[in-house]
This record gives sequence, C-alpha cells and structure tokens, in this order.
Amino acid sequence: MKDSYQREITYLRLSVTDLCNLRCRYCMPAEGVVKKQHSDICSVEELVEMAAAAADCGVTKVRLTGGEPLVRRGILDICRGIRALPGIRELCLTTNGILLPELAGPLREAGVERLNVSLDTLRPDRYAWMTRRGELGQVLRGLEAAAQAGFTGTKVNVVLMAGFNDDEVEDFVALTEQYPLEVRFIELMPMGQAGEGYLPGDTVLERCRSLTPAESAGVARRWRLPGGKGLVGLIEPMSHRFCGSCDRIRITADGRLKPCLHSGQEIPLRGLHGEDLRCAIRQGVAAKPERHHMAEEGRSRAGRDMNQIGG
Ligand code: 5AD
Ligand code: SF4
Repeated sequence: MKDSYQREITYLRLSVTDLCNLRCRYCMPAEGVVKKQHSDICSVEELVEMAAAAADCGVTKVRLTGGEPLVRRGILDICRGIRALPGIRELCLTTNGILLPELAGPLREAGVERLNVSLDTLRPDRYAWMTRRGELGQVLRGLEAAAQAGFTGTKVNVVLMAGFNDDEVEDFVALTEQYPLEVRFIELMPMGQAGEGYLPGDTVLERCRSLTPAESAGVARRWRLPGGKGLVGLIEPMSHRFCGSCDRIRITADGRLKPCLHSGQEIPLRGLHGEDLRCAIRQGVAAKPERHHMAEEGRSRAGRDMNQIGG
C-alpha cells in the first residue's frame, strides 16, 4: 500500500491502552490521565480485526505500544491473535520493562519476536524522579528476564535530555560492550509534556569518539564499539528528519487511525468491518502528510499526549 508520496506503508504501531504504570515527566501529567470509559477502548477482538485489515492492505509488521502495553488486560490474547494473522511477519512490542520479570516468558510464547525497552537513566534516584514511581531494579531484572526467555536484538530506548541524562551517554554506550543490546538514543520531540532539554543525536558521537559506523536500520543510524557485542543507534526526528522513508501508520487505543504521529488528523475505525474497514485504512494512508513541521513550528501538531498515541 503506497501513500501519495510513493512511500510503501508496511508498519503498524497499534496502541492497546493509554494507561501506564509510570508517570514519566515528559510524557504524562502527574495526576495521570483522565481514565477513559472501558467502552472507549478497543476490545481484544477489535484490535485484532484492525490489525487483520491493515495486514490485508499490505502491513507486514506490527508493534504493540501504549501507554504501557503490558498493563492491558488480554495483552497475551492480542499478541496471539495478531501473530496468527497471515501476512504479519513481525510482531514487536515497546514497554517500560516494569512487568517484564513476569511477562517476558509468556510474551515470547505468545509470539512476540522483539522488544524495545524504554530506559532513560541507569541511576536509581534519577529513575525514581523521572518516572515519579518506578524502580530501576525492576527494569534491569526485566531485561534479564527477556534474555532468559530467548529474546534477542532487544533495544533500549533512551530519550536524550540535557541536564537529565546527557552525562550518562558513555554509560549507556558502555552497555553495548558486554551485552548484545541495541541502545537507541532518541531526540526529544516537542510534544505532550516535553519541555526543555532537546539535544541533537550528534552529541552521542561527540562524547564517544571510539564508535565506528555500522549498517543503518530503518530510521536509525547505527554505530558500534570496536569489539562490542551490541550496537548504538540514533533516532533523530529533529536533526535528521526521516519522513521521506516513513513506512508507518498508527492506531490509537480508542480506535483512530493516525497517518502521522505529528499530525492532528485522525480517522475513526471503530464500528467498521470488512471492506469498509480496509477502505478507511487506505483513505488514511492516502491522507498521510509528507512530513512533520516541528523544526519550523517548535511544536508537534499531534494533539494528544504520547501515552495516547504510543510513541
Ligand atoms: N520525545 C521523544 N521520545 C518520546 N517518548 C515519549 N515522549 C517522547 C518525546 N517527547 C518515547 C518514550 C518511549 C517511546 C514509546 O517514546 O520514552 O521510549
Ligand atoms: Fe512519518 Fe509523520 Fe513521523 Fe514523518 S512525522 S516520520 S511522516 S510519522
């Protein structure tokens, strides 16, 4: 399925809940979110039906996001349902890792192939402050549990923030010496609750002179430490806008198709079935904007907080 700028759309990011067990300062207000009515959130069946329709339209990769997908009741049924769809070749999930100690094994059995774990600091005190309630040890145990369960190619997502974790760049990079992880530094985007603190991805290269180029993957430029087991990736939506190679669409937990993360455009999908549902998805793809305008406007036009979109 091609959009109107000839981009092939093959990747669906499906949010399964807007709830989260953390309250990261750049993502969510302290009070948390106004809890949506249970009926506002898609059922397991609806989510699988939407993924199936997207697969019919040419999507081959699905990533489950949130909020935090592991707090969603029925998450394993959602995984199994999507994994069983013909046409879906890859099922991934982005998590804060807090529930991985219990769920890594079951997720693997339910057919999830790869995990992205969000982790912005390796200091317990900073972690507790940033997440307003999280315990770092739990995430580290979660990463261990993922490896034990047989997950490979796990990515650690680090949002770069001046004055918060820029003095930990070397520590994160050093993780890739010992562990076969991909540490991905992500530029802070001006959306949701995010304020000051943007740093360009190049900061990482300036701090870590020994990194040597590796093959890039999708929107990530990548490097490795000589002899290191893992990789270092940069996701640079601000300094290296990658919209030209964008291959993704999003569906929110309340069943609205977002052709672009940074656009306010939303196409309601709930209540549609069969050809009507596929048609709405194709229309959304046709309406996908060429690019975002965060550099000129200083702000995303997303119109929702990140927990309501799924990153
Ligand atoms: N800029 C960049 N990344 C963000 N995330 C959440 N908000 C922002 C933002 N403003 C990240 C999370 C997680 C992923 C789902 O999106 O840290 O890694
Ligand atoms: Fe794709 Fe929109 Fe993100 Fe650009 S801003 S990469 S078009 S989703």
